[in-house]
Formats: sequence, structure tokens, C-alpha cells
Amino acid sequence: MPPAMFAALSFPMTKLAHALFPTAMANGTIAGAFAFYVLYDCMHYALHHTKLPSYVREMKKYHLAHHYKNFELGFGVTSKMWDYVFNTVLPL
Ligand SMILES: *[C@@H]1O[C@H](CO)[C@@H](O)[C@H](O)[C@H]1NC(C)=O
Repeated sequence: MPPAMFAALSFPMTKLAHALFPTAMANGTIAGAFAFYVLYDCMHYALHHTKLPSYVREMKKYHLAHHYKNFELGFGVTSKMWDYVFNTVLPL
């Protein structure tokens, strides 16, 4: 998200964390949430703008097929392991 929006949203989120938790826990919650947001954003950027390793490319294709081909099959995002277990493998 744009930095200005992040700054605007971080204010109410920080207030909420301090309303819900004692100061030290609120600080930890905010630090953790911000760190994971940055990680998420880097991952999102990489998914769109870099040449992905073939395994990740294949899983991305598999996940898009879950959304646009058959949403009742192909639930795996990081691996197909549970699709094999529950017999929900989506043939591509
Ligand atoms: C929590 O963070 C605030 C700054 O937002 C700081 O002033 C305060 O000392 C911190 N408290 C603890 C217990 O970490």
C-alpha cells in the first residue's frame, strides 16, 4: 500500500493495540504486525515483478486454477500435499 496510507492506518491500529493490551504487549504486537506487513509486501512485490523459481511458478499457476478453473479442487497454496491426502488435486 502507499506509504501515506500506511502512515494514516498505522495510527488507529497503534491506538487499538494500546487499548487492547498492556504497553509492552501492545509494542510487541505493533512491531510484529509491521514486520510481517513488510515481509508480506516484499513477497507480493516479488510474486509480480521477479522471475520466480519453477516450483513457486507452478504453485502460482495451480492456485490461479483453483480460483479461475475449479474452486472445489486445488486448495494447496504452498504445496499440494493436503490435496493428495484429501483427494482434491486439481489436474492442470
Ligand atoms: C512502548 O512504545 C512506546 C513508543 O511508542 C515507548 O515510549 C514505551 O517506552 C514502550 N514501552 C514498553 C514497555 O516497551
